[in-house]
Amino acid sequence: MPFDSLTLTRPDDFHLHLRDGAALAAVLPHSARQFARAIVMPNLRPPVATVGQAAAYRQRVLDARPREGAGSDFEPLMTLYLTDRTSADEVRRAKAQGIVGFKLYPAGATTHSDAGVTDLKHVQAALDAMQREGVALLVHGEVVDPEVDVFDREAVFIERHLLALRRDFPALKMVLEHITTREGVQYVAEAGPLTAATITPQHLLYNRNAIFSGGLQPHWYCLPVLKSEEHRRALVAAATSGKPCYFLGTDSAPHAAALKEHAGGHAGCYTAFSALELYAEVFEAAGALERLEAFASFHGADFHGLPRNRGTLTLRREPWTLPERLPFGDAELKPLRAGETLAWRLAD
Ligand code: NCD
Ligand code: ZN
Repeated sequence: MPFDSLTLTRPDDFHLHLRDGAALAAVLPHSARQFARAIVMPNLRPPVATVGQAAAYRQRVLDARPREGAGSDFEPLMTLYLTDRTSADEVRRAKAQGIVGFKLYPAGATTHSDAGVTDLKHVQAALDAMQREGVALLVHGEVVDPEVDVFDREAVFIERHLLALRRDFPALKMVLEHITTREGVQYVAEAGPLTAATITPQHLLYNRNAIFSGGLQPHWYCLPVLKSEEHRRALVAAATSGKPCYFLGTDSAPHAAALKEHAGGHAGCYTAFSALELYAEVFEAAGALERLEAFASFHGADFHGLPRNRGTLTLRREPWTLPERLPFGDAELKPLRAGETLAWRLAD
């Protein structure tokens, strides 16, 4: 008997790009409608690298919330951008100010990562302080070595860097963000209770063929890039397994449509507009809808030591068509699956 509606404890998004200014104002209500809380990525320009910058950014996020009704109580969970110069003192200040984690971008790995870490040896003192203070390390796990094939960069990162990080900092809480490979799934399953992973809707729904079918498809281009079907299946098995080490993180990353439909088009899929509906489709196809709530609403909160949310929201089986474009400041934003029909819809 298929479900026609599904009521879940209010979920959280453990990996979200909200941007700033008019872009922030345009996208924040979409996430706030669906998620009670979200871990907000610090890759602004300049990056959010100090507790002072994070406090100011947090206030701008709060100011972008709807004044009343759905989403008005959305809570941003702030992160700091780890750089070669992050000090142990900044980590202690971060802990005191309620920062949930530091984001490790290998310099050059992705959008706005040029201020990222050039060599892990520069951040040993910061990592040691994070381990002591119980601040999580959120890892963009891809090597930047141009010799390594784009599709292998996550697997090679695990071998070259993650194993050593775990050995050197055995008590550090680590989230391998947006995992995309069988190797990522396996590593996290075996790494013990202080290691977890987020999984995006696009990596669960699509393999790399999506980027190349019917011409080049820039809206399916994100980093880490979509992988082959074998890897997609491993991700679906992980997300729907019920194991607490895997949880929801959309990596929703808005870019103006004109900058994606462009030579040198930007990386990032905009999924926040219909994120839960997309995940519901994945879980339903896997025959695991009853496990969506734990993945979306429990595992991430438990891992980060946050209380589970109160209240619920409901998804109904009700076909609806995603808009072609959304307003995005002076520009336009194209949601992933623009113009296509989805099977599940969030009830008002
Ligand atoms: C992100 C962005 O645009 O900020 N892009 C993406 O493709 N995911 C950066 C990131 O998370 O790697
Ligand atoms: Zn991201």
